[in-house]
Amino acid sequence: MSYDDEEMVVTPWEVRGKVDYDRLIEKFGTERITDKLKEKIYEAAGERHILLERDLVYSHRDLDWLLKEHKKGNKFILYTGRGPSGHTHIGHLVPWRFTKWLQERFDTRLYFQMTDDEKFLFNPELELEDVYQYTYENTLDLLALGFEPEDTYIIDDIKHIDLLYKIAVRVAKKVTFSTARAVYGFDNSMNIGGIWYPAMQAVPAFLHSEIVGEKTPCLIPCAIDQDPYWRVTRDVAEGLGYYKPASIQNKFVPGLGEGGKMSASDPMSAVFTTDTPKMAKKKVMNAFTGGRATAKEQRELGANPYICPVFKYYKFLFMPDDEDLSDIEKRCTGGDLLCGECKQILAPMMMEFLEKHQAAREEVKDRVHEFSAARLRDEMKR
Ligand code: TRP
Repeated sequence: MSYDDEEMVVTPWEVRGKVDYDRLIEKFGTERITDKLKEKIYEAAGERHILLERDLVYSHRDLDWLLKEHKKGNKFILYTGRGPSGHTHIGHLVPWRFTKWLQERFDTRLYFQMTDDEKFLFNPELELEDVYQYTYENTLDLLALGFEPEDTYIIDDIKHIDLLYKIAVRVAKKVTFSTARAVYGFDNSMNIGGIWYPAMQAVPAFLHSEIVGEKTPCLIPCAIDQDPYWRVTRDVAEGLGYYKPASIQNKFVPGLGEGGKMSASDPMSAVFTTDTPKMAKKKVMNAFTGGRATAKEQRELGANPYICPVFKYYKFLFMPDDEDLSDIEKRCTGGDLLCGECKQILAPMMMEFLEKHQAAREEVKDRVHEFSAARLRDEMKR
């Protein structure tokens, strides 16, 4: 079966087939971020952002409400997370950078959930030691982006269960098995840990309210596949005395394979933050592109940047300048730029980015504990 014919499957655990992002909005019942809403975000943030401009961040729930509350002086907190099932690839950093922008522009606290429990429960191949190790490695990547401990709290589900359990049982009591089956598609083969887990992912949305003893708005930046979690989280929120969390949702940032896929079984299909720059170059040079079968054909007909992962990396990471991007786009569609040359432009950018990121990663190694949500134990007591 060719990639195009494959049926689309998007759940929090599986993304398969060609992703139709418009259909996901309909399927999940979220809302599109309109130009009008973008302007409202920019007005509140005091700045535009290319991921909104370029529609990588494209869908939401209750964002207009959240901005209204913000305007009234009702401050929100940010909540996002990562399932530590492997090394971080470059694409993962894109939404995290967006989260950092939100944090800075809105001067908010960030709760970041590392779901070692989730990945252990849902992935037959992973042992606890593995998810602990990836939690550490992924944390380095997050912190390398420059977060500050004052307003960044990394929650490790297993390590910090004492902080989370009270809220989790209250959430879990309100979600029936039949809801979980319908929303998450569980069947009888699912282990009971997996059935429980959605309660855990709801918790950080309410944690701050619990800490300060007052309901606090929450904004969740996340990839669109996480929406089923928030549907259930939102359904139980008010009954438990909290606001429904708002969300701001992005499309996936692709790996380097066909259809932008990154596959765990093919390490060449994505650049990992732990790759050597030399390896990264090799991967870029091997990437799938939107090019034609022959150079002659490409010179005549032009290539297709819109299906090309190389172009996406310019668009979402390396070319914030609109003129640079449209120059590449024009040369690509016009047939002037062949894919080999285009990759030769991306490769050094990727290598330089990686070198800097890896240096920053080294520097945060002895600071990881400063970000731990363990600090919340004291705040809870107060
Ligand atoms: N389930 C997510 C994953 O597999 C991890 C996660 C937990 C998350 N809480 C989150 C992602 C909040 C985004 C926002 O990657």
